[in-house]
Amino acid sequence: MNPLRDPQDRRLPRIAGPCGLVIFGVTGDLSRKKLMPAVYDLANRGLLPPGFSLVGFARRDWADQDFAQIVHDSVREYARTPFREEVWEQLAEGFRFVPGDFSDDIAFDTLRQTIQDLDRVRGTGGNHAFYLSIPPRFFFDVIGQLKEHGLADPTPDSWRRVVVEKPFGSNLETARELNAVISDVFPPESVFRIDHYLGKETVQNILAMRFANTLFEPIWNSNYVDHVQITMAEDIGIGGRAGYYDGIGAARDVIQNHLLQLMALIAMEEPTSFEARSLRIEKQKVLESVVLPRRLDLGTARGQYTEGWAGGIKVPGYTQEDDIPNDSRTETYAAITLDIDSRRWSGVPFYIRAGKRLGRKVTEVAVVFKRAPHLPFTETATEELGQNALVIRIQPDEGTTIRFGSKVPGTAMEIRDVSMDFAYGGSFTESSPEAYERLILDVLLGEPPLFPQHEEVELSWKILDPIVEYWAKHANPDTYASGTWGPPSADKMLARDGRVWRRP
Ligand code: BG6
Repeated sequence: MNPLRDPQDRRLPRIAGPCGLVIFGVTGDLSRKKLMPAVYDLANRGLLPPGFSLVGFARRDWADQDFAQIVHDSVREYARTPFREEVWEQLAEGFRFVPGDFSDDIAFDTLRQTIQDLDRVRGTGGNHAFYLSIPPRFFFDVIGQLKEHGLADPTPDSWRRVVVEKPFGSNLETARELNAVISDVFPPESVFRIDHYLGKETVQNILAMRFANTLFEPIWNSNYVDHVQITMAEDIGIGGRAGYYDGIGAARDVIQNHLLQLMALIAMEEPTSFEARSLRIEKQKVLESVVLPRRLDLGTARGQYTEGWAGGIKVPGYTQEDDIPNDSRTETYAAITLDIDSRRWSGVPFYIRAGKRLGRKVTEVAVVFKRAPHLPFTETATEELGQNALVIRIQPDEGTTIRFGSKVPGTAMEIRDVSMDFAYGGSFTESSPEAYERLILDVLLGEPPLFPQHEEVELSWKILDPIVEYWAKHANPDTYASGTWGPPSADKMLARDGRVWRRP
């Protein structure tokens, strides 16, 4: 056997076999800023097959060249890797555009013919992934059309896959309805649910850090850990996404998926392997063991941004944003306390917070350790000593920091917090791929470990539904000025437990 064809061999990266990608909703933000640039970056890194084809589907009166121009503009603006004319030209030969709306049978017929043509002229071999980068209300139509027009059925020796972007429903019930529709048409192994956080290098590194080392695991439990803080702060507001965001809010937008996934990776037991099934079993165990605070009024907090400052610019409040009703009760900040009922984590709260228009953009996980049981120092010596912490910086400034006490040089014994730092930029010469590069490549390779399964989605809604329902029944969200770190109620939530939020 050729050793370079061995998947275990690291000398050559794995390249997708003959295939094509169809994107529904090519005119949307996600497609322009993330998907199309990621396709180009993959091509530029030599990870796509030579005949790779990209089909755009949207309600526009475009020819293939117009579509190519749109992809070109988005690649020029957002791609991570340098623009190379020869890569572009080869890639662009595989671009096709199908105009139409989602209820248009003729358009789906054209799509079927387009794909057949591509199989013939580009050698895509009948292997096609359908990427649903569209508002969830259209999922049903598109999936139905794929079925009706025979697009979901592979011939023997080829594959058809569907890629679904979140939100996977807006609560448990709608998530189940959505899943019923998808699983009626595609078998579970052909469904790829995107949670782009799982595609981030720093998130995958949580597993490497925990399970490739001896240093962390012995202290990764309630004997040593005091609590865990998971923060996803953004400085941006809702931009042009009023239609999606209003009524959804911060908890459903990012806690249900990204942050509960992060929590699961931090809290899970060692999987027997890194196969999708083993990972899923361990993550599911965590999600199943989550216990909500008994008093949701005390163990959760939420807020809505008012006008303030972002990056030195005066910005409007949430209810003054375009297309947001001025009596909207949608939260743009959410903080929740969760316990995990297991021997490892009993008594260790996980505090999770997410918000828009906060002080700066940062996502991090901080594992905060207990104080030493005994300090053989005078009280003044340890005045400046905080709690030891391990901070995983998901983004930006990717890396990990360990904080611990150290003696301040001098004649007196004085101990102060210092940090030891791992930064990706300092340790590796290669830059991290974008999450979407990794995830699109995995879809084309048929590699499922980084994609949540429906069971995880359901379990996450079971955690979130009671909280969101409680909020809906009680009072309006608190407010916080843009550019600050959220409403005072979130600080009080931690203060009741004798703790404070880290300033990331
Ligand atoms: C998306 C949310 O899933 O993640 C957005 O819908 C959010 O509201 C975005 O802005 C943030 O992603 P990232 O990768 O910039 O942290």
